[in-house]
Amino acid sequence: MQDSAVKRFGILTSGGDCPGLNAAIRGVCRTAMDEYGMQAIGIEEGYRGLIEGRAHELGRDAFAGILTRGGTILGTSREKPFKMTEVDPETGRTAVESIKYNYKQWGLDALVILGGNGTNSTGALLAREGLNVIGLPKTIDNDIAETEITFGFHTAVSVATEAIDRLHTTAHSHSRIMIIEVMGHKAGWLGLYAGIAGGGDVILLPEIPYNIDPIAKHIKQRKEDGHPFSIVVVAEGALSKEEALLEKKELKKRRAEMPYSIAYRVAKELESATGLESRVTVLGYLQRGGTPVPYDRVLATQFGTYAAHMLAKGDFSKLVALQNGVPVGVPLEKIAGKIKRVPLDHPLLMSAREVGTCFGD
Ligand code: F6P
Repeated sequence: MQDSAVKRFGILTSGGDCPGLNAAIRGVCRTAMDEYGMQAIGIEEGYRGLIEGRAHELGRDAFAGILTRGGTILGTSREKPFKMTEVDPETGRTAVESIKYNYKQWGLDALVILGGNGTNSTGALLAREGLNVIGLPKTIDNDIAETEITFGFHTAVSVATEAIDRLHTTAHSHSRIMIIEVMGHKAGWLGLYAGIAGGGDVILLPEIPYNIDPIAKHIKQRKEDGHPFSIVVVAEGALSKEEALLEKKELKKRRAEMPYSIAYRVAKELESATGLESRVTVLGYLQRGGTPVPYDRVLATQFGTYAAHMLAKGDFSKLVALQNGVPVGVPLEKIAGKIKRVPLDHPLLMSAREVGTCFGD
């Protein structure tokens, strides 16, 4: 066994789940146990379990057969401990106090957190409170700063692409506009990748506010050119040029009042602007479920093993990230509160435009 700064660590998954979490858990724990003789404590349901004191020791058997399994063997929740300021009448502690208490009670030397922006921002705050924290970037949205890629993303791209492929054939048969809504409230990576891979005629992203007129023109032109059907890929956070002018709060309010999701509005607008029949498919949680694609299994394993070596070195307060194709540790403070959106000069946007994709701008 090699020397290690950490003897016992807690591991949790927090925020929306995604394929690859189990592969990452396996990567961290097997390396930590086999190479360094560390003990791993699995914290249940993310920060909720850390607050409530729910955890169990993970034996080596816990990782058998989980590489290919979707979801997370630890469970997850969307708890935000630093926003929970009330004192628990039973314990007399706030959520953050309970976290520090349980960390100490369980004899942890460090905490490994697998999550997205919210989870890792909380991790940065916990590090400030004196906990030894290492984060791993998971999300189908691929919107974490400082990393080229997050695990879970390519599985979601694959699911969405297959759906677009299937919609293509039926769109063709019926000469319809098929609108497919994919996840991505603030960042359009998933819509962009799946849209390009599936040959979407129109891709609407949160980063590029749309106008319905150029989209309708594009679709009508396609019809004139002998293609009376179109595929429109819409990220759930896509917004019109008018909406882009609104204050964030006002936009959120209007969206909450909308009785349907954005794809339905786009369908209605396009139907009346083109006279073509439209149909909507909202992919929803299918994008987050199921077995990870090989790329995500490999990436999650690579990130996990790297995190174990960081634990051993006592290299804390960092997120494992991919930069120039290799894993590195970046300070959690550097990514906290940030969102990696699609830059407007991203080469993929250019490529998509060059093959005739309309972005509604
Ligand atoms: O995992 C990220 C994400 O998929 C977003 O794209 C989506 O808007 C959100 O999670 C919804 O998740 P939930 O309903 O679990 O909060």
